Amino acid sequence: MEFENVILSRRSIRSFTDKEIPSQILEKIMEAARLSPSFQNRQCWRFIVVRDENIRKKLALKSGLIGKCNFFIKDAPVVVVACADPSKSGTMNDQDYYLVDVAIAFQQMMLTAWNYGIGSCWLAAFNEQKVKEILEIPSKIRVVAMSPFGYPKEKTSLYDKALKTFAGSKKRLPLEKIVCYDKWKK
Ligand SMILES: Cc1cc2nc3c(=O)[nH]c(=O)nc-3n(C[C@H](O)[C@H](O)[C@H](O)COP(=O)(O)O)c2cc1C
Repeated sequence: MEFENVILSRRSIRSFTDKEIPSQILEKIMEAARLSPSFQNRQCWRFIVVRDENIRKKLALKSGLIGKCNFFIKDAPVVVVACADPSKSGTMNDQDYYLVDVAIAFQQMMLTAWNYGIGSCWLAAFNEQKVKEILEIPSKIRVVAMSPFGYPKEKTSLYDKALKTFAGSKKRLPLEKIVCYDKWKK
């Protein structure tokens, strides 16, 4: 896909077919994370690629921040849990850059996946402690985000449709509301 089309067509995917992701494509997705920029190139990230069906189900049904809000990830063949060791990144202006490091790498993975027709969806609505217990993640590591990865189902689920009413893919602020030139504009 042309790079511009990757950006223009990407959207969050919450309904998946059961088609497996070929291992060489999964590797390209992970390589996109490895090549990402990071605070002083410290590469504080760790990614857990969950392919085991039972563990995926546990994440889907037992790690939601509110009930089973992440149940849809159980259908995806892969769930990636994006973690960081904050002590390996840095802080400037009171801002923790491990979040930025992981966010850039995760988005690079998602765009690479989309280039191969694979959908994903950022998830923040999880209980970090429960995710840590399920995946045996050490206490000093933070779980920044997770996402299912899989081939999009043409017919989307009711949950997907419902979510789009308040977090619709197409809704964006116009450029003039988010960009100003030369100085801050009220
Ligand atoms: C940091 C972050 C956290 C998000 N958390 C969730 C989430 O917990 N559950 C969910 O279904 N979508 C989540 N999303 C997806 C957003 O709802 C989605 O990106 C937004 O509505 C725009 O839609 P689009 O990605 O299809 O363009 C999250 C997105 C980001 C960037």
